[in-house]
Amino acid sequence: MQQKIILTKDGSSTIFLPEIKETYHSKYGAIEEANHVFIKNGLNFFHKSSLKIFEMGFGTGLNCLLTAIKSIEIKVNIEYSTVEPYPITRKVLNDLNYTSIIGDKYFDLYNKIHNVNWESRYIISQNFSLKKNQSTIQDYSFKKQYFDIIFYDAFGPRVQPELWSVDVLQKNYFGLRQGGILVTYCAQGQFKRNLKKIGFKVLSMPGPVGKREMTIAMK
Ligand SMILES: C[S@@+](CC[C@H](N)C(=O)[O-])C[C@H]1O[C@@H](n2cnc3c(N)ncnc32)[C@H](O)[C@@H]1O
Repeated sequence: MQQKIILTKDGSSTIFLPEIKETYHSKYGAIEEANHVFIKNGLNFFHKSSLKIFEMGFGTGLNCLLTAIKSIEIKVNIEYSTVEPYPITRKVLNDLNYTSIIGDKYFDLYNKIHNVNWESRYIISQNFSLKKNQSTIQDYSFKKQYFDIIFYDAFGPRVQPELWSVDVLQKNYFGLRQGGILVTYCAQGQFKRNLKKIGFKVLSMPGPVGKREMTIAMK
């Protein structure tokens, strides 16, 4: 599928897929959205000295980079796991401008996150380890009650409705510990009804710039 790099309103870039008219991040700000949804309402939800985080859809690795940076700042040990069936190419990666906005000093960190192999766990920095799985969420085997937080960053329900279905969300529920959260930018009604059906407690939170609501679902 053709991929185009576009600039979002906060100046950070994202990937646009013209065939399905979908972007990897909000057009109102890729970094703004990632920080609001996954860091402020995800990572910062718990005050623990160690966290196990799972990301659905590694994509550009922006959420992973922001989490790795935060883990250094707040001194939390993070074991990060992610799935991505269609890794981005080096060419696309080189055209993204995240470290020039967040800070050039994070260039090596971002590269390391992308350069480590798939299917093995690596120590990325003192308190951040990463395992990237080249797999769909459907084929991924969750360990029971393992993760504290799931960053659910799939393409929207218009494009991939199956990823917001009871079947796939149920797998995520199985992989979350009791009290753990699934956090996402999505606030679609059917999605929230699916979460409730599975047994999640659903919290609607103010969304990032340009979006009224986002969702935190607690097991
Ligand atoms: C909205 S983008 C978000 C990407 C990423 N979190 C980021 O910040 O760049 C959705 C991602 O999910 C991936 N994806 C598509 N189908 C998937 C599936 N069945 N299982 C897991 N990931 C999938 C896409 O390739 C894409 O990278």
